Amino acid sequence: MKILHICSEMYPLIKTGGLADVMGALPYAQQEMGNDVRVLLPYYPQVREKLGETVEVATLGTFAGVVTLRFAQFNGLGVYVIDAPHLFDRRLPYYDDNYQDYMDNYKRFALLGYLGAQIAEGLDHWWGRVEVLHAHDWQGGLACAYLKSWHSPVKSVFTIHNIAYTGRFQAYHLPELGLPWEFFHPNGLEFYGEMSYLKAGLYFADRITTVSPTYAQEITEEIAGAGMHGLLQIRQAEGRLKGILNGVDEAVWNPETDGNIIAPYRANYMHGKAKNKAELQRQFGLPEDKDALLFVMVTRLTEQKGADFLLANIDQMMQYNVQLVVLGSGAPELEQALRDSAARYPHKIGVKIGYDEALSHQIIAGGDVILVPSRFEPCGLTQLYGLKYGTLPLVRQTGGLADTVNDSHKESIENRTATGFVFRYPDPQDFLEAVMRSINLWKKNKLWSSVRQNALAQDFGWGKVAQQYQSLYQEIV
Ligand code: ADP
Ligand code: GLC
Repeated sequence: MKILHICSEMYPLIKTGGLADVMGALPYAQQEMGNDVRVLLPYYPQVREKLGETVEVATLGTFAGVVTLRFAQFNGLGVYVIDAPHLFDRRLPYYDDNYQDYMDNYKRFALLGYLGAQIAEGLDHWWGRVEVLHAHDWQGGLACAYLKSWHSPVKSVFTIHNIAYTGRFQAYHLPELGLPWEFFHPNGLEFYGEMSYLKAGLYFADRITTVSPTYAQEITEEIAGAGMHGLLQIRQAEGRLKGILNGVDEAVWNPETDGNIIAPYRANYMHGKAKNKAELQRQFGLPEDKDALLFVMVTRLTEQKGADFLLANIDQMMQYNVQLVVLGSGAPELEQALRDSAARYPHKIGVKIGYDEALSHQIIAGGDVILVPSRFEPCGLTQLYGLKYGTLPLVRQTGGLADTVNDSHKESIENRTATGFVFRYPDPQDFLEAVMRSINLWKKNKLWSSVRQNALAQDFGWGKVAQQYQSLYQEIV
């Protein structure tokens, strides 16, 4: 099958979050199944640096100015990029250094959707028309609208990686983008008097997917639906909404082969993990104490991720023989609060504010427990990496976290299904209760090792995930 993915991130070319990890793995898994797969993304400076040599496919005058479409092979996968320095030659993809969204985002990502739809329709004669256009998140959403407005036979799939970002813009831009006014309608891309690129994807795509079964259910409810729950209920009733859990890219996240960690390890050689722990403690200036329970967290610092549940409990937690290492960036007040905690407990807490891919691997390999106390979580990848690295996830029971981590209690420990710690309510008290349970289990060496072995035995390969997308495509093609 001929498939074009449209997205704004792809590891290792450009990454701000989990979407990039998914796009760095899913297309490859689909290709391995015998599909003809390509990806379209903006030519950000980071992409330009890593992509290597490109060939020009076409230069076009568009509503967003003159732009050049280029093509390259990247690690064996065909990648199209939109070369438009006036739109994409900026340090950060979505906002400036002060977290202010770029004023022309409406145009930048309309262009992404427009060119995606054009390629799907056969703009690149060498490749021809595709069977499935697969757009991701609001940045790709308009592609589905363009295809519909051209009455294209190409089928489209839209994947929600995070419904909280709806891509809303002033409606008066619509004519400029070459879309018909009729689309500005509740049965279309209209959303509370504005246009929403996410809604364009939801409304016009032939199928909607999201990245876990639980989140697929949650977003049909008002509390998690970001205003889209009505439409999603309809799509669910039509059988056009499906949750497909993400996988883990074993070429990148595997403690046996990970080049970012000092000692490789595996289920029957956990000595390596202990070395990574000692190294992490050393790196953050913490005592090299193997008996201290080392909590870690690697995260964007936004309201979604629940770092405030941790911050509210720092003093209680630090009464025990525990340590904490956090790598994150985002909201300035959360960054500051974390720095303050580290200053108050210099021998127990290490904090690095920033974005650091290599360090994220070292932290996940060195930790004992990885904290993912999200208020909501479409899928979540760091808990999966935690499982793969024998770093037990402590998560809230929501979205993909609920689908991937099994709480440790007497019964689940006995029948060997326990893989981490789960708390139910988004409040600091419930979080602390789970932390206390992890501290108690830590004291029982044997039980801890057994839960850790269960975690290490989990399989989140992309092959079976790609198979599910394949079945979905087959329903519509
Ligand atoms: P989200 O996409 O909502 O941020 P995910 O758990 O799906 O959440 O994916 C986050 C990805 O980004 C993971 O690969 C994680 O390791 C990475 N990540 C998040 N924050 C940082 C950081 N500060 N430095 C390095 N990697 C990070
Ligand atoms: C989003 C979600 C995250 C998910 C990722 C990849 O960023 O917040 O939960 O894992 O997309 O699908």
